[in-house]
Amino acid sequence: MIKVQGVTKRYGSMTAVRDISFEVAAGEIVGFLGPNGAGKTTTMRILTGFLPPTEGTAEVAGHSVLDEPIEVKRNIGYLPEIPPVYPEMEVDSYLEFVARLKGIPNARIASAIDAVLEKTSIAHVRGKLIGKLSKGYRQRVGLAQALIHNPKVLILDEPTAGLDPAQIREVRELVKSLAGDHTIILSSHILSEVSDTCGRVIIISEGAIVATDSPANLIARLQAGGGAIELEIDGPAEDVETRLASVEGVLSVSRGPDVAARATWVAHTGDTPDMRKRLAQAVVESGWGLYGLKQTGMSLEDIFLKLTAAEKIGAVEPEPVEAAATEDGAQ
Ligand SMILES: Nc1ncnc2c1ncn2[C@@H]1O[C@H](COP(=O)(O)OP(=O)(O)OP(=O)(O)O)[C@@H](O)[C@H]1O
Ligand SMILES: [Mg+2]
Repeated sequence: MIKVQGVTKRYGSMTAVRDISFEVAAGEIVGFLGPNGAGKTTTMRILTGFLPPTEGTAEVAGHSVLDEPIEVKRNIGYLPEIPPVYPEMEVDSYLEFVARLKGIPNARIASAIDAVLEKTSIAHVRGKLIGKLSKGYRQRVGLAQALIHNPKVLILDEPTAGLDPAQIREVRELVKSLAGDHTIILSSHILSEVSDTCGRVIIISEGAIVATDSPANLIARLQAGGGAIELEIDGPAEDVETRLASVEGVLSVSRGPDVAARATWVAHTGDTPDMRKRLAQAVVESGWGLYGLKQTGMSLEDIFLKLTAAEKIGAVEPEPVEAAATEDGAQ
């Protein structure tokens, strides 16, 4: 449904996006993830036909963004970083205005408005001024304008930015409910945000793709070499340390902060699968009290930092994924 090949975008001497390639299959929800300035918005604007790439090609629903921008826009619903809503308009007259702009035939406008009001759950505020809506509701109006022509593809640039946790959950549910009917790319700089909604995540840093995989695979792959188990133990420190270190599969042991006067320990277990049982046995057999036991490994945020740091220092870490970015893009 979306095919990006070797796209580079330069603003003068500044390269915002460098040689990125990826594909998105019909019905997929893909998260576009990267820190500020990574090139997310630039890539999205190229995909929507608003910004020509300096090099490379991009296709949406079989249409080239360079040669057929109008066809591309017909097939895309775009929610920019700042929703293009007019505070002085009422919700339904704004949507009517957008529907006309998008060339929806007069006879179908009313039903198209009803359909998106329903889809985005804002029918009860249809007569209200947009400027008087909460931020979450304004974001839904933004989504409604992106959806009004029932596009195959939705491009959502940080759809949950600036929303409170409850609104974030609502928008996330809404995006999930749109899956299936639409192919969706959404951007964020928060990993946990996209890991929940997206089947696949593309990580971009300084204009280049550093990884693409399912959120679960990203964690699994990067946890290899980074797994750890946290233990809270009541026992003589020196003996505990020696005993934990002697458990088969433990690479090293370090002391964590004390919790309520009890010591915590981190047993680094590398890529050995879950060792909680073995460690628990060692503690209990030694006659010490085991007050806590937790597999930690790396959080998505750690992985994100590791990937982007690896890219900066030219480490080889992300290499196997980059092949996936260009060849296995379709699910
Ligand atoms: N019109 C422009 N002229 C010059 N430089 C630009 C322009 N638009 C973006 N850039 C630069 O290109 C880089 C990528 O910007 P982009 O907006 O795509 O990043 P982003 O990933 O969307 O960041 P954010 O998370 O802050 O929205 C940045 O360094 C930015 O300063
Ligand atoms: Mg942006």
